[in-house]
Amino acid sequence: MSERIASDKFRQKIMSASDAAGLIKNGMNLGFSGFTGSGYPKEFPVALAEKIKEAHGRGEEFQIGVWTGASTAPELDGELAETGGVSYRMPYQSDPAMRSAINKGTAYYQDIHLSHVGPQVSQGFLGKLDVAVIEVSSITADGELVPSSSVGMNRTYLEHAEKVILEVNEWQSVDLFGMHDIYSEIGALPPNRVPIPLTSPSDRIGSKTLSVDPEKIIAVIVTDAGDRNSPFKPLDDDSKAIAGHFLDFLGNEVKQGRLPKNLLPLQSGVGNIANAVLAGLLEGPFEQITSYTEVIQDGMVDLLDSGKLTVASATAFSLSPDYAKKVNDEAKKYRDLIILRPQDVSNHPELIRRMGVIACNGLIEADLYGNVNSTHVMGSRMQNGIGGSGDFTRNGYFAAFVTPSTAKGGAISCIVPMVNHVDHTEHDTDVIITEQGLADLRGLAPRQRAKVIIENCAHPDYKEPLKEYVARAEKLANGHHTPHDLATALSWHTKYINEGTMR
Ligand code: COA
Repeated sequence: MSERIASDKFRQKIMSASDAAGLIKNGMNLGFSGFTGSGYPKEFPVALAEKIKEAHGRGEEFQIGVWTGASTAPELDGELAETGGVSYRMPYQSDPAMRSAINKGTAYYQDIHLSHVGPQVSQGFLGKLDVAVIEVSSITADGELVPSSSVGMNRTYLEHAEKVILEVNEWQSVDLFGMHDIYSEIGALPPNRVPIPLTSPSDRIGSKTLSVDPEKIIAVIVTDAGDRNSPFKPLDDDSKAIAGHFLDFLGNEVKQGRLPKNLLPLQSGVGNIANAVLAGLLEGPFEQITSYTEVIQDGMVDLLDSGKLTVASATAFSLSPDYAKKVNDEAKKYRDLIILRPQDVSNHPELIRRMGVIACNGLIEADLYGNVNSTHVMGSRMQNGIGGSGDFTRNGYFAAFVTPSTAKGGAISCIVPMVNHVDHTEHDTDVIITEQGLADLRGLAPRQRAKVIIENCAHPDYKEPLKEYVARAEKLANGHHTPHDLATALSWHTKYINEGTMR
């Protein structure tokens, strides 16, 4: 019997993952914990995938809706997608099998700002939430839930679900208790919303635990399995160059008096380049930095260890396996430096704007005027999703995007005449950084932006075609505000992108 479950009421509900999965019926919506590979249930989704496959084998229909905080891991997104039994997915994923189900058209996917998930659930746009399946690190004697390595949407899903299944994961350190800050008033809808009393990333405004109505609990599963994040790519020359440009830019902002010496709270997006920027900060001149972000990557742990970063506020860990083990082993130390909050607090526009968060996110492609595509390949194919990039980009003090200037070994330019899908508009993009350099778009009109982006960010192989495009577009547009040659813009992707490189 697990010592992690101190409440008798919850102990009585202990059962196997397979028995718990047997409680799920065709057509149900499930709200899972899990955010960028941390804090997701480990055994239940695998057991549920088995039940779905058995049902399909008998010729029975078995489809479910999968809601989460963000991306999860192969045991959840991968296993469930491979059954062909996921009819609907939201709000963010990055698993190859789930991506394939979405792009084959077998699963509908709603790609929404992560700060919008709570209100959409509360307002019922997604239908009824049948079961919440939430990983916790322990259950207290009075039935309070100690979260594990992510908080994500857990508070909302526990509140709105008709029934709840808990996975108590003994791998997660008991010393995580005290790392979380669960603010509950966030669930209110207008006209009952009140200001969120948080003015600094280090503020704690809620409780250490999640609450749940014990009558909703239908199963408790005991597991012992680590989070399954993937390692970051090793830092290469391009990512070091990108980090260098960003640091020089921040240094100049300090010199100009537009940023304090210790900067403003930093947000760092998902992906390899964003992690590389954090590694750059380790070598940089800035001290006493703070972070108000969505995920904590390896680079942020190094910054905390070095003392350069004094506090990291997020909703989840997004660590490589070695770093996940280290943070778990030393949770007692890190719980004073790290605060994990519900994602509707970590990504809340009011807080991001008030604190002046510096946003830094990855992109797939940017166009000559600063419109950014973070999600689609060749206009139709979903990569991951917008995640929290829009929450931070639209509301931050300024918004930077980082990317190598080319993708697929140079076969594709990440700077294009017109993005094939828009996630962030020109009105929200302040700075674009590639290994070639940095384009500061603040204060620039569209035709001025095009020049700076080509000169500073495009790869030398693509500068001439882009300049030719601008010359033709300016001639055709005859002085119009945002010059485009639509026929050429729309054929750019097929002309300059080798179809053979597209998956
Ligand atoms: N055309 C086609 N494919 C492209 C491309 C382009 N212009 N640019 C990148 N890609 C491909 C890469 O080749 C790579 O493919 P692979 O997995 O087959 O190797 C993949 O997209 C990821 O690119 P990578 O260079 O490894 O960058 P990354 O890990 O930094 O991720 C994003 C970049 C944009 C996909 C990622 O940042 C993302 O999902 N962003 C949206 C969500 C977000 O920003 N959340 C943060 C909020 S906290």
